[in-house]
Amino acid sequence: MRALCVVGTRPNFIKMAALYRGMCERPSMKPILVHTGQHYDPNMSDVFFAELDLPRPDIYLDVSGGSNTNQTARILERIEPVLLEAAPDLVVVVGDVNSTLAAGLAASQCGVPVAHVEAGLRSRDRTMPEEINRILVDRISDFLFVTERSGIENLKDEGIPDERVHFVGNVMIDTLMSHQDKAAGSDVLERLGLESRGYALVTLHRPANSDRQEALKDILLALREIGRELPVVLPIHPRTRNRIGEFGLLSLVEDEPGFRLVEPLGYIDFLAAMKEARVVLTDSGGIQEETTILGVPCLTMRNNTERPVTIECGTNTLVGTRGADIVRAFRALDFSENRAPQRPPLWDGQAAGRIIDILLGAFGEKIS
Ligand code: UD1
Ligand code: UDP
Repeated sequence: MRALCVVGTRPNFIKMAALYRGMCERPSMKPILVHTGQHYDPNMSDVFFAELDLPRPDIYLDVSGGSNTNQTARILERIEPVLLEAAPDLVVVVGDVNSTLAAGLAASQCGVPVAHVEAGLRSRDRTMPEEINRILVDRISDFLFVTERSGIENLKDEGIPDERVHFVGNVMIDTLMSHQDKAAGSDVLERLGLESRGYALVTLHRPANSDRQEALKDILLALREIGRELPVVLPIHPRTRNRIGEFGLLSLVEDEPGFRLVEPLGYIDFLAAMKEARVVLTDSGGIQEETTILGVPCLTMRNNTERPVTIECGTNTLVGTRGADIVRAFRALDFSENRAPQRPPLWDGQAAGRIIDILLGAFGEKIS
């Protein structure tokens, strides 16, 4: 079974790592790795291939940058000949980024079955490009692999036939579990001068927060205020780094002793920094899930989440995007409470194996 596995962004590499490794262990599977090039800086791409033991991609589409529409269009155009040449039995896509939708759509138009890993999540906020990508890729997928129960309900509500939907758990958590030992050996705290439980770890890259000058300024001022009470470390996503520069906002944070702006961290260092943080503030999707498993309090700087199980588990709180609300939520946290890792159903490190079993079962039946 030839499975064309398509990745393009940082969270894609992390999710696909578990699947790719699992596929390599099965003699009847041949994974072919395609990197669209949506993320391309060494610290947004190469570092993950190295740390997650992913091989050099078989095919690189080199589509860096551009608007959502333009990026999606270029991936569509460049992946079609790859599909025709490689003639895979299946295309596997993960998550909700432009590379996910474009590869899924091209496969579907070429008559190749599509497996979508992390299907069914819905924020119900159609201003997010990811929400459009999720809805569309789920519509055209043949295998929909769901991470949490809300996904099953969402797909049912949208009329997706039950037999396409499989509740399998979370491949991002598979990768986290298999890299915890390496993370325990990271010296990132020493390198950044941080103490265990003595800092807030922050990430910020949603366009709603980073692309609008007033919104970004308001959040940076809030983080600066928090930094005066607890050191803040912000590994800066390139989108946000660029916007801070364009909007002239660097002076707000650059000379603040409690505020550290650093380059994006590699996976192992980031896992270590997350685990030892007193609190994480983020607008990331995946980090809401990782902090759940690690039992680290997470304040999500958004008004909604497509991952409600992280709220039900109690580690994650939606705090909105207004600076004053973010600071208030931070001050309201009770750090004396015991931190307890939570495990949503099937987040047990075995999701990739379940997915591969289902695919092999389905294709075995077709062949026989
Ligand atoms: C994308 C995903 C988002 C995901 C995020 C993960 C979409 C619509 N968005 O957002 O869902 O949460 O990846 O991090 O697919 N850039 C660089 N170097 C890089 C990558 C990006 O400089 O290696 C800059 C470029 O100016 C680029 C901009 O960041 O135009 C935005 O990158 P893009 O991939 O379009 O969106 P993200 O914000 O990264
Ligand atoms: N991550 C990382 N280094 C960083 C920030 C995040 O390795 O500096 C990892 C994080 O552990 C998680 C993933 O990147 O596994 C989340 O990606 P991101 O927040 O960019 O995307 P999203 O999940 O919002 O789509």
